[in-house]
Amino acid sequence: MERQATPILNAEASRQAGILAIYGEEQVKAQNADCRCVIGPAAAAAYVREARLQQAVARRLAALWRCTLANCLPSGPRLDLGGGAGTLAMALAGKGCPPLEVVDRSVSLLRLATGLQVRPWNLDRGLPVAEPALLASSFALHWLSQPLESLRQWCQALRPGGQLLLAVPTSGSFTSWRQAAHQADVPWTGLPLPSAPLLQEVLAVQLRLHHCCLLQRSQDWPSALAFFRHLKRLGLTGGAGGCLGPAQLRRVDRCWPRCSQGNVAVEWEVLMAVGEKRK
Ligand SMILES: C[S@@+](CC[C@H](N)C(=O)[O-])C[C@H]1O[C@@H](n2cnc3c(N)ncnc32)[C@H](O)[C@@H]1O
Repeated sequence: MERQATPILNAEASRQAGILAIYGEEQVKAQNADCRCVIGPAAAAAYVREARLQQAVARRLAALWRCTLANCLPSGPRLDLGGGAGTLAMALAGKGCPPLEVVDRSVSLLRLATGLQVRPWNLDRGLPVAEPALLASSFALHWLSQPLESLRQWCQALRPGGQLLLAVPTSGSFTSWRQAAHQADVPWTGLPLPSAPLLQEVLAVQLRLHHCCLLQRSQDWPSALAFFRHLKRLGLTGGAGGCLGPAQLRRVDRCWPRCSQGNVAVEWEVLMAVGEKRK
């Protein structure tokens, strides 16, 4: 059974509820009207429970920051963009980073960002602050309507010496899924992902990169249907391709290459970048 979002009980949560009240549920809804994925309370709780890859990537990004830029963070606003329940903000705090404000359009996820400062905000409308000192973002940029343009704006907005920490899945992901869809003669229904070389090009124009590499990860699922159900539970099905019917889903499942134990593999290619704005 799915848990509901954590009830607002303590002082911190009341403060967050206050912030949400100031912005107003209606205003937040209006901001979200044109968005591709809107994560509600049940999906938010499932996300916090089940998004293991995203948690591991956030920890890795925080560790990269620790061994590259931790000693030269300028003062100024620090944001976790598309930060959800604050996985990356918390991982960075664990590595000694001063607190980040979690910016996300999902009020349900922000309500689970216990102990963190939060700001409901639609990033398709740009950044909520000027001249940030640190912009961190994990598994969020690809959800924006124009990821490359948003990334260019993020780099542009950083103050001199400001830092960017980025993890984003790229178009080299989901090779087996694409192959299965092709063989099953059904449309590809995943979210279009940005190309790694194009992202790197945007980053390199304005930043001195201390780390920029592609992380390859593969997850096993008992079946394609189990993987699709997981995406649906977490509210991550906002691909442009729409839904497949049951017969099409079964065909994709049959065509998905099996590993030795009969599982299907889901491949992720994630660009991990750490850089600072040239002075
Ligand atoms: C896959 S989740 C990643 C959350 C978190 N960064 C993590 O690593 O666990 C994607 C997040 O991006 C947020 N998001 C997507 N589009 C957004 C937008 N236009 N403005 C603000 N947040 C957005 C979603 O609400 C969600 O919290």
